[in-house]
Amino acid sequence: MSVPLTFDGRVVLVTGAGGGLGREYALAFGQRGAAVIVNDLGGDIKGGGRSSAAADKVVEEIRAKGGKAVANYDSVEDGEKLIQTALDAFGRIDIVVNNAGILRDRSFARTSDMDWDLIHRVHLRGSFLVTRAAWNHMKNQKFGRIIMTSSAAGIYGNFGQANYSAAKLGLLGLSNTLAIEGQKYNIHCNTVAPTAGSRLTETVMPPDLVESLKAEYVAPLVLWLCHEACQENGGLFEVGAGWIGKLRWERSLGRTVRQKNKSMTPEAVRDSWNEICDFTDATKPASIQESLQTLVEVLSKVDAGRGIGTNPTGAATTNPSAAVGQALPEMTFTYTHMNCILYALGVGMSTKDPDHLRFLYEGHQEFSCLPTFGVIAAQSAMTGLGSIPGLDIDFTRLLHGEQYLELFKPLPTSGTLTSRAIVADVLDKGSGMIVLLDVHTYSGGELVCYNQFSVFIVGAGGFGGERMSQKAVVTAPPPDRPADAVMVEETSRDQAALYRLSGDWNPLHIDPSFAAMGGFKSPILHGLCSFGFAARHVLKQYAGNDVSRFKSIKVRFVKPVYPGQSLQTEMWKEANRIHIQCKVKETGAVVLSGAYIDLHAAADASVSAGPPQTDGLQSDLVFAEIGRRIRDLGEELVKKVNAVLAWEIMRDGKRVRQWTMDLKTGRGALLRDADGGRADVTFTVADEDFMDVVMGKLNPQKAFFAGKLKVKGNIMLSQKLEAVLKDYAKL
Ligand code: NAI
Repeated sequence: MSVPLTFDGRVVLVTGAGGGLGREYALAFGQRGAAVIVNDLGGDIKGGGRSSAAADKVVEEIRAKGGKAVANYDSVEDGEKLIQTALDAFGRIDIVVNNAGILRDRSFARTSDMDWDLIHRVHLRGSFLVTRAAWNHMKNQKFGRIIMTSSAAGIYGNFGQANYSAAKLGLLGLSNTLAIEGQKYNIHCNTVAPTAGSRLTETVMPPDLVESLKAEYVAPLVLWLCHEACQENGGLFEVGAGWIGKLRWERSLGRTVRQKNKSMTPEAVRDSWNEICDFTDATKPASIQESLQTLVEVLSKVDAGRGIGTNPTGAATTNPSAAVGQALPEMTFTYTHMNCILYALGVGMSTKDPDHLRFLYEGHQEFSCLPTFGVIAAQSAMTGLGSIPGLDIDFTRLLHGEQYLELFKPLPTSGTLTSRAIVADVLDKGSGMIVLLDVHTYSGGELVCYNQFSVFIVGAGGFGGERMSQKAVVTAPPPDRPADAVMVEETSRDQAALYRLSGDWNPLHIDPSFAAMGGFKSPILHGLCSFGFAARHVLKQYAGNDVSRFKSIKVRFVKPVYPGQSLQTEMWKEANRIHIQCKVKETGAVVLSGAYIDLHAAADASVSAGPPQTDGLQSDLVFAEIGRRIRDLGEELVKKVNAVLAWEIMRDGKRVRQWTMDLKTGRGALLRDADGGRADVTFTVADEDFMDVVMGKLNPQKAFFAGKLKVKGNIMLSQKLEAVLKDYAKL
């Protein structure tokens, strides 16, 4: 059973709580431990008359059930008085539900000044006055939850409700800004657009619908939004009949209809009208910064002479798809134990934890390099993207979207690594472009790790490229159950300042004015720093900090983290895969999603037979040669074969070696004892039979029918092997 949501110690003001929805909210809050101020003027639906009876009755109902409540009979136009009642009776105010409302429906032509003003005074001005009176109390106590009540009539419009629609959507605007101003004080403001049978709706709805659409089907949403555990802020929800949906803005990609040094004309608008209104690949801007960003992009594009006929995001003069397969110049990275230690400190390791010493002290018996250091050796490839013809990347719009890292052996604690990077694919996501950059990193000719950087270039989409890629290593959602383990760790105020010393010098992580230009309130932590935190949490929880157990990690970067915030890594174990989700503990915001780490199985000490005997495998020699060929001819082979092929080499009925020949990604790679799960076809064969086939002593078809050679997956791919094996027989 989940923990019930209670409001003990909280003081709640519900305006217009003498009937309808407000009454339901007040009763529900009272029942769950809150002290409630039941406000109601007790007038008629058009705003006439007054009576204390409505509020008193609800107060009695709450008290009768053992709850705490007091009445207030003022109009919401006297906002201060309502809050004063809360302070006098209970000494504080935590939650304000702006709910009071009236109707003065008229067709627009017949709407009088009075009809307009009264509606605005009660709904919009009333909510403003009550909320303003509560604001500083909430700010000082660093807690507040506010609800604004909007209406479908405001969102969509409704005949005869011009005054009401305007006021109701005005409340959404008010809420949007309060959500931004309140965030840092833990004051959250959300808006509901309810539908329920009440005296307001009984004139427009059939009686049985009024009866069925109960207010009790709305109240639970309001209670959740007002709970301290709810981190929602600035949301808009439609709610009724037990259904709840969230709304957001959608914006078409639009069209730039202006050209450099030319005046903008209505004809140009007319001629682009279909594109302006075309919602294909629409974006969903969620902040004014995102909205303004587009305009800044348009200004720079028009100034650069790329105006008319493009959407602001279109890369009109370049062809990004042509960049696929382009390689960057080879990169070398030389490092010592100091870099490993600096990186470990950068991702939050500390001598406070004795377990961390093996990553922080070069004299430690098991001194190791953290596996995620593998991204450091390869990261300069991202900046190299600027030199790829066709891509025309604007680095101020580059976001690191996803990251995959696979290790083929533990990273050395010092040495020189060589990396080869290739543009694996370029995707057109409409609102932007994704570049998949594959980087293979070698130590002395041996592959040590593979990175796939997935970078998103905001506003560079719309060039007519593919949306998806087979080459992308994809994220995986966590299982649908509570996490098996959770680790929480505070990042330090200087975390980003420390992490950047490992080579990511982007000023966004240190310079407040640069961060402000990007729309951030202060410099943000590197996504790859959170990535490092999450990975070592898993390594500690499930692998006893043994770096040889680490196989691979995949994450999607979702939201920024500010240095000083705490990272909460939630982990789910599914065999050797540990699913992870990383959140900022203070806000609940998910920062890494769809993430997972694959571990190598632990060596099982209980198996007395010991590890399988792998010495002297003849097939190793053949694969060494295949590896050399792939290094020399990889690119050509990837084009010809375009598949992942795996071999399982058997001895005494046990699998003793796994070879994965990746002739699908980048320049190709031969991986020893990697997980062959991605393979399009897998051959299983004994070491000696493999050699007999290779030497031409055993016909592969015969071997297959004799059960000596097993094939799983796309058998037709075996025909492409000739390209790799050439002088060897056709396996
Ligand atoms: P209701 O008429 O049952 O409740 C509104 C309450 O507000 C009444 O008890 C009334 O006396 C009180 N009130 C009116 N003016 C006031 C003032 N100046 N100061 C203090 N109290 C005042 O109506 P209902 O349906 O419960 O509406 C609650 C809110 O939900 C309203 O803001 C309404 O516009 C909104 N709404 C309701 C919908 C529905 O389907 N019931 C649809 C969309 C919005």
